[in-house]
Amino acid sequence: MTEMIELPMGTSDRPRIIAVANQKGGVGKTTTTINLATALAACDKKVLIVDLDPQGNASTGLGIARTARERDTYAVLCEGLPVMKAVQPTVIPRLSIVPASVDLSGAEIELVEQGRREFKLADVLHDTHGVDYVLIDCPPSLGLLTLNALVAADAVLVPLQCEFYALEGLSHLMKTIERIKRALNPRLEIQGVVLTMYDKRNNLSDMVAADVRGHLGEKVYETVIPRNVRVSEAPSHGKPVLVYDMKCPGSQAYLHLAGEVMKRERIAA
Ligand SMILES: Nc1ncnc2c1ncn2[C@@H]1O[C@H](COP(=O)(O)OP(=O)(O)O)[C@@H](O)[C@H]1O
Ligand SMILES: [Mg+2]
Repeated sequence: MTEMIELPMGTSDRPRIIAVANQKGGVGKTTTTINLATALAACDKKVLIVDLDPQGNASTGLGIARTARERDTYAVLCEGLPVMKAVQPTVIPRLSIVPASVDLSGAEIELVEQGRREFKLADVLHDTHGVDYVLIDCPPSLGLLTLNALVAADAVLVPLQCEFYALEGLSHLMKTIERIKRALNPRLEIQGVVLTMYDKRNNLSDMVAADVRGHLGEKVYETVIPRNVRVSEAPSHGKPVLVYDMKCPGSQAYLHLAGEVMKRERIAA
C-alpha cells in the first residue's frame, strides 16, 4: 500500500505566479499587489509577494522595516540566496513577502552580465514550496526586472488608472507581453486589467472606463477600484487597507477583485 504523503499548506506543488505590471508609475500596482494578496490570503490561500521594485513600497506597506531587508530580492536574484531564506512573514496570516531594498536598483545593470539573465526570477521561483499564489510587484519600467517578472509569470495583471492618459502606453505594454509570450514564456496570459482610482464624481473616470472596456472588452475586470482616501492612508500605518479599514469601499473592491481573479484562475486551470 502506498503511504499517504502530506502536502504542505499550499494545494498544489507549484504556485500560480501573477506579475502586477504597468510601466507607468502611480497607477496602483503596489496598492493592488498588497491588497489583492491580502484578500487572497483571507480566502485561505497561501500567498507570497515578491517585491521587485527598488523603491520597496510593497515591503513598507506591509510594515517591513528598512533595517529588516538584508535578505532581499537583490540577494536572491544576484547573490544566489535561496528564495525561501528571504521569505518573511507579515502580520497577515498566510501572507509572506520577499522584501526589496535599494540594493535592487543595481540589479538591472548587474543582471546584464549574467547568463540566463531574463530567467533569473523564473529559476529561483521554482523553489517556492507550499504557496498557492506568488504576486510580483513590478517597478515602473519595462526594464530587465519587469522582463524577469513576465518571464516567470503564468499571468499578468495590469492596473490602469482612470485618467485621461490611461490608454497611452498600454499598447506598448501589450506588445511587450506578446513578444515575451512568443520568445521567452509561452505560458504567459493576461489575467486581466483592473481600473483603479475611479472617481464617481468625475465624468472623466466614466469616459475612461468606457473607453478602456471598448478597447479591451472582457480582459477588464468588472470590479473597479474606487479612489478612496482610506486606501492611500493605509500604507503609512504599514497595513493593507483590508486590515486598516475592512469596511471602506476600497477594501470591499479588493475583496471583489480577488473573487474575480480566483474565478479566472479556476478557468485557466
Ligand atoms: N484606490 C485608491 N484610492 C486612493 N489612493 C490610491 C488608490 N490606489 C492607489 N492610491 C495611491 O496612489 C499612489 C500610487 O499608488 P501605487 O500603488 O504606489 O502605484 P504604483 O505602484 O503603480 O506606482 C499611492 O500614494 C497610493 O496610496
Ligand atoms: Mg509601486
